Amino acid sequence: MTLSRPYVTMNMAMSTDGKISTYQGKSIQFSSVEDRRVMDEIRFQADAILIGANTLRVDGIHLWIKTEALVKKRAAQKKAPHPINIVISRSLDIPTDCRFFSYPDTEKWIITSENSDSEKMNDLARFARIHALSQSQSHDDIDLSLVMAYLKKWGVNRLLLEGGSRLNFQMISHNFVDELYLTICPIIIGGERVASPVGGQGFPSHKIRNLKFLSCRHFEGELFLRYQFLHGQIGNPRKYRSALDREVFLSKLERLEFLCGNLE
Ligand SMILES: NC(=O)c1ccc[n+]([C@@H]2O[C@H](COP(=O)([O-])OP(=O)(O)OC[C@H]3O[C@@H](n4cnc5c(N)ncnc54)[C@H](OP(=O)(O)O)[C@@H]3O)[C@@H](O)[C@H]2O)c1
Repeated sequence: MTLSRPYVTMNMAMSTDGKISTYQGKSIQFSSVEDRRVMDEIRFQADAILIGANTLRVDGIHLWIKTEALVKKRAAQKKAPHPINIVISRSLDIPTDCRFFSYPDTEKWIITSENSDSEKMNDLARFARIHALSQSQSHDDIDLSLVMAYLKKWGVNRLLLEGGSRLNFQMISHNFVDELYLTICPIIIGGERVASPVGGQGFPSHKIRNLKFLSCRHFEGELFLRYQFLHGQIGNPRKYRSALDREVFLSKLERLEFLCGNLE
């Protein structure tokens, strides 16, 4: 089946208590060299990486592939050395004196609304390609369905979502995320208001998203988890678990009946 949007993978690292930054709102590099290596492999698969403007404001980092062998492998596959770096922003309050813009080897896009400040748009156009999408005046946020449809049209088939918390929630709310890579680091950050990988307003119980566990790897205290989003299963997980339990029970019953039949 061909998707009318890119296939989306989300990658996040969090502390053991589920935080992605400190209470000071500052970015800290808390994951290991191994996590950086895994991140490169995930980025290697992507045509583009999408982040929210606040992640750029806080972290200012460029989203590149550090492992040279992977960059060469992409070249052999006739791909750009690094995935396109995309920021989404309505305000266009985007600092240009950061590594995101100074790194020369990445293609940079800013997705915004056609209603955003045109002066800021012109300024930023010196640093990145601006995609100003049409949008109803009343709406503050850009319609992500439109963003996904455009990305697909512009040739982005595999999109990597790298946060932050607010953008992740919006993407998951629209059921646009297909896979999750989550690194759990052996540290505690704490803080009542400190963000977790998925923020926003959160889901009520009947809208909880369910995941299928795919794999887990352990390396020097860090856990590397991989899940698939179950788009058809929304709501309290017990509903689905009891259906699964019933299936297991029925298959056991069938087997018992078969054995009893053989004994007669
Ligand atoms: N540990 C990790 O793996 C990891 C990864 C990434 C980020 N982080 C952390 O996450 C924090 C940032 O997360 P956050 O939740 O504060 O912010 P965020 O999700 O990075 O960015 C939110 C901003 O993105 C823009 N945006 C999002 N959806 C939009 C839409 N539909 N239309 C238009 N604009 C949209 C808006 O920008 P404007 O306000 O400009 O309109 C919005 O304020 C930072 O502390 C960062 O260090 C951690």
